[in-house]
Amino acid sequence: MKDIVIAIDGYSGTGKSSTAKAVARRLHYIYVDSGAMYRTVTLHFLKNKVNLDDNLSVISHLSELELEYRFDNSKNDFELFLNDLHVGDQIRTPDVNSKVSAVAAIKEVRRALVKKQQALGEQKRIVMDGRDIGTIVFPQAELKIFMTAGIEVRAARRYRELLEKGINSDPDEISRNLRERDHFDSTRSDSPLVKAKDAIEIDTTHLTFDQQVNKIVKLAENIISEN
Ligand code: DC
Repeated sequence: MKDIVIAIDGYSGTGKSSTAKAVARRLHYIYVDSGAMYRTVTLHFLKNKVNLDDNLSVISHLSELELEYRFDNSKNDFELFLNDLHVGDQIRTPDVNSKVSAVAAIKEVRRALVKKQQALGEQKRIVMDGRDIGTIVFPQAELKIFMTAGIEVRAARRYRELLEKGINSDPDEISRNLRERDHFDSTRSDSPLVKAKDAIEIDTTHLTFDQQVNKIVKLAENIISEN
């Protein structure tokens, strides 16, 4: 039995986070949502009205920001804290959605967060999802997955997710935001969203949630049981 790192990358709305979380639970691994970190920095910048074009201001606000994952025994899950405050769903608002790609394109932000992500992976036994996990954060990850799905399916899933949280949204607006973020994330100069050469691509358009989780768990178990 060996301990491994599982990197899951892909476009917005492909179900990466919920899949990664379920995979981690099945394997008794830690799950880390790296997108939540970029969202939390974005929330902090929005609250403090940081001008994203002002590099000095970005750097100074970054230095006062403390991000921490704490284990919540009652939920058997990790919760993200920003300067000692639980962030929760505040990082999923349309305001954060519309700014997060621009924040994630800032070199200094990426450098700081990648360092934190790598520290979390030192003990292995981790599943992390994002855009650059298999390429930049953990290029040596034992298992790399790249998730894709058609835009209509992704938009419909996001719409349902929001509805379940009691948030009524405009499906066209969701589609537009997903397309914009795909474009921005894949064309930025620093760590663009690309499939790692050794990643296994899983198209989830016609897969159920359980099917996609089972597929990844099976791949992971094969590697874990190798000598
Ligand atoms: O996975 P998500 O939609 O919560 O991610 C929010 C944004 O953060 C997304 O637009 C791209 C960015 N991101 C990134 O650049 N690198 C990561 N490892 C994770 C997310």
